[in-house]
Amino acid sequence: MFAVKDKVAIITGAATGIGYAVAQKLVTKGCHVVVGDIDDDKGQSAVAALKKQRQVKALYVHCDVGDFDQIRTLINTTVEQLGGVDILINHAGIPQRQWFLDDTDLNWTSVLCLNIHSTIFATQYILKLWDTTKSLGVIVNTASAAGLGPFPASPVYAASKAAIIHFTASLKDFERQGIRVNAVAPFFVEHLKDLDWTNVYPQLRTELESATFVSMDQVVQAFIKCIEDESLAGQTLSVFPSTGVQVHAPDYPER
Ligand SMILES: NC(=O)c1ccc[n+]([C@@H]2O[C@H](COP(=O)([O-])OP(=O)(O)OC[C@H]3O[C@@H](n4cnc5c(N)ncnc54)[C@H](O)[C@@H]3O)[C@@H](O)[C@H]2O)c1
Repeated sequence: MFAVKDKVAIITGAATGIGYAVAQKLVTKGCHVVVGDIDDDKGQSAVAALKKQRQVKALYVHCDVGDFDQIRTLINTTVEQLGGVDILINHAGIPQRQWFLDDTDLNWTSVLCLNIHSTIFATQYILKLWDTTKSLGVIVNTASAAGLGPFPASPVYAASKAAIIHFTASLKDFERQGIRVNAVAPFFVEHLKDLDWTNVYPQLRTELESATFVSMDQVVQAFIKCIEDESLAGQTLSVFPSTGVQVHAPDYPER
């Protein structure tokens, strides 16, 4: 088992939501945590609360994952202040804000930029760093159930999350260097129920209104398994209401 105690984890998009819940669990286990987010107030509050939870080092760094320079700064600051990075969780991402055919301003390009480009850039940057320093590490990428099968209400979001799953699977061979890359693909998570859906476009709102949600605990459990279970590399753990946390087995033949 990969022990997280005294390790250093970076989590993007962890000022609130799933990322924050994962940060809380890691801190409980004695892991030092760096929160990268665009919401400075919530990010600072999150870090203050994490420090109160247990005596670990916790740091907030402003990071818009849509800006590669800010991803570089997040990782470099962590190395400077905490001595290295053992775990990178590429969690920040955004949903589609509009129905595909109503998107006349190319907003879909932001979905791809924030969901997949940022994940690829951060992964490449940390892999190069770990190669230089001969370090071992774990990367967890946040995908979605929408990336495992068709999701007609949000085709661009689905495409971005499918790309994350395939990108993750294609990095399996890094396990030979002691680096494991895995992904988590949750169905709708329970904290969405507390949000105001008034401005959610009808196709997506219909999906939300009829959904059964997965619990935050199950999703956090999937992230921790990706990190701790050393048999997992290149894998995506799905989290569905009906089946819970499961290793997603792609149905294509071995090469
Ligand atoms: N909530 C779900 O049901 C669900 C299901 C599957 C996958 N996901 C994925 O989980 C991730 C986030 O979901 P959540 O429910 O935790 O969201 P959330 O809205 O609760 O939190 C998102 C966090 O990301 C931050 N953020 C937004 N844009 C950012 C940017 N450009 N750079 C850095 N941080 C940014 C926000 O400030 C916020 O703190 C996304 O990748 C999403 O696709 C969510």
